[in-house]
Amino acid sequence: MMSTAYLQCIEERCGRIQDPKQDAFQCSSCGGLLEVKYHFPAFDSEALRKEWHQRRLSGEPEDRSGVWRFRELIPFTEPRARIVSLSEGSTPLVGTRRAGWWTGPVHLTVKHQGSNPTGSFKDLGMTACITRAACRGVRRVACASTGNTSASMAAYAARVGIQALLFVPRGQISAAKLAQALDFGALVVEVGDTFDQAFRLLRDLAPEMGLYLVNSVNPFRIEGQKTIVAELLEQRAWRPPDYIVVPGGNLGNVSAIGKGLRELLDLGFIQKAPRLVVVQAAGANPFYRAVSSSACELIPETKPVTQATAIRIGNPANWKKARRVLEWSKGFVESVTDEEIFEAKRVLAEDGVGCEPASAATVAGIRKLCRAGKIERHADVVAVLTGNQLKDTDAIMRRFQGMESERRLRVEPNLDALRHALRAAVRD
Ligand code: F0G
Repeated sequence: MMSTAYLQCIEERCGRIQDPKQDAFQCSSCGGLLEVKYHFPAFDSEALRKEWHQRRLSGEPEDRSGVWRFRELIPFTEPRARIVSLSEGSTPLVGTRRAGWWTGPVHLTVKHQGSNPTGSFKDLGMTACITRAACRGVRRVACASTGNTSASMAAYAARVGIQALLFVPRGQISAAKLAQALDFGALVVEVGDTFDQAFRLLRDLAPEMGLYLVNSVNPFRIEGQKTIVAELLEQRAWRPPDYIVVPGGNLGNVSAIGKGLRELLDLGFIQKAPRLVVVQAAGANPFYRAVSSSACELIPETKPVTQATAIRIGNPANWKKARRVLEWSKGFVESVTDEEIFEAKRVLAEDGVGCEPASAATVAGIRKLCRAGKIERHADVVAVLTGNQLKDTDAIMRRFQGMESERRLRVEPNLDALRHALRAAVRD
């Protein structure tokens, strides 16, 4: 099986196939990003869909995982390789009422990646790349992170006994995410003021320290993450939506989703691809600016600012892959303010759907695009909610500061005081 997979540079003028003995993260010839390519056999798509569905009833770890259940799409492991899995994937696709009405109205469903083992979509990519690392005998993995990648890396590395090193910008990631990484035994290195700075330093240091990078420049991460598309389509009886919307930070996720869709289209599993939409936070939107001005190069944002800390990234490493998939799917990029993000988060909560701020950027973006007439009313739209509500409770508590009289009552512990306070506050 291994022989069907190879790594290739994505740059059109280069396209060099890499030495299969090494897992590099950039082209040995031009420094471009790499992607995993396969010589897929001619699949009987109907039979394979049935097989994938059937595996959900199995108790085997590779069948229970929402990533490895679709292993025919990611044939880069050796036969009988031990996979490193925490039963990731198989996340819910949830309908909305208020949020769909508020955004368009559109027919809005959310694919909630927050129910993954460590609470974010990163687990899909991590099972793939830690499996790869373990097969290759890697002893130390590392990433720079705004928090979720690190929690995920730490868990999967712990599971297989590999040391995990985490580079984070000082004081910039949510306490819950940092706590997860510490709990799973990662070595935490707080360095620099931004994700981009921490990432740059790690990339420079990794080769000499023998660190295996698990950031989304690792092409095997993308392979795991792309399987969300197969799972989503299966949940929709293989009917593609009109749009799939994701928040954009380092732009690995949109690249993965685009790759997954393209392969499923080429292999005959679907006849039409949805349009991909990336939403960035206004204070950290270099990709939005590059695409809207049709610029050839991306100008990094040196001081990214947003309360959606997961996507506080000024120099997205995967922007060229992302641009390619947007062009292919005729998609677009939107930018939303923090106020719009928190309003969208509040509306989702009214549907009983919680998520972290970065994830709510999707819904804020859909509303804006509907208002601008770019997404048509009643369109069939899937928003990918990338992280769990509990990933950033500080952001929630900040919002309720000073709202003691409305939503948080402090009452003396006696019945009269309670009656008095509640009479004013309880809804009829
Ligand atoms: N949403 C959440 C919750 C994230 O944690 C991230 C990225 C994104 C969206 C953006 O995805 O980078 O693929 O465009 N978090 C990374 C991290 C950077 O380190 O956890 P992307």
